[in-house]
Amino acid sequence: MSAASADRYAVIGNPISHSKSPAIHMAFAEATGQNLTYTTIEGPLGQFAATVDRFRAEGGKGLNVTVPFKLDACAYATDLSESARAAGASNALKFEGDRCHAENFDGTGLVRDITHNLGQALAGRRVLLLGAGGATRGAILPILRETPALLFVANRTVDKATALVRDFHAGGANTKVLAGGGYDDLSQETFDVVINATSASLSAQLPPVPASALSPNGLAYDMVYGKGLTPFLRLAKDSGVRHLADGVGMLVEQAAEAFAWWRGVRPDTTEVIRRMTVPLV
Ligand code: ATR
Repeated sequence: MSAASADRYAVIGNPISHSKSPAIHMAFAEATGQNLTYTTIEGPLGQFAATVDRFRAEGGKGLNVTVPFKLDACAYATDLSESARAAGASNALKFEGDRCHAENFDGTGLVRDITHNLGQALAGRRVLLLGAGGATRGAILPILRETPALLFVANRTVDKATALVRDFHAGGANTKVLAGGGYDDLSQETFDVVINATSASLSAQLPPVPASALSPNGLAYDMVYGKGLTPFLRLAKDSGVRHLADGVGMLVEQAAEAFAWWRGVRPDTTEVIRRMTVPLV
């Protein structure tokens, strides 16, 4: 396989040097025998469209998109998937002639990690999502598709959670299944699956979720990865929650979704997840 004839992919963000995506996608390419290159692009702020135009002009086939360009990616695309439209953000673009297709695989990757890798069903269960930012927005539809008994979105700024939930109700989500509010609303409630989609773990902070909201037989999932036991996962561990996970599986699964979308072949994720996992201690 020659690099000269290889199809070109990249991840665009700012900053981008920390990105694990090139290593993940090159491992997928090797395992599936796909001839491609995958690099990083540090996109200058305010110049997303021009940077992507240049990548396309040079023959680029697709991009992953990360902070702070996920909203720009949606605005840039000509064709939005349902998940990209619902999230208002895209983390994967595919270029075909003058068309640019936008997807958002974060939520799909999360759900696949929980149900497939971690073996935790969401169907019929009570699910709590902490936070009401972009990460939560992308997770709502894929979780609802699994038909949970309840999906409650709790946020520090309560209005943001209720407005977000209202948006999804307006889009057809079941008002009996999807609800939102503040952390105070959780004092009498217990959930089977609690997902931390706030950015609190990035600064080693704990969202004010009461320990009583976590079920000992349930799953506590933190979307951040590579940080070991975050304050949220420590709270869950100290409360006796049996299943703990960080977001490494979500990261690799969303990458696998994008790879399959671009290349038509779904890579096996087990080995890449194993290699990237940082123990939760
Ligand atoms: P992202 O796109 O990663 O979701 P975001 O849109 O900036 O990021 O949203 C960050 C989320 O984390 C918000 O829900 C925020 O709560 P507020 O809306 O009240 O700001 C939440 N968050 C950040 N730090 C937090 C903390 N220490 N405790 C609780 N929630 C926190």
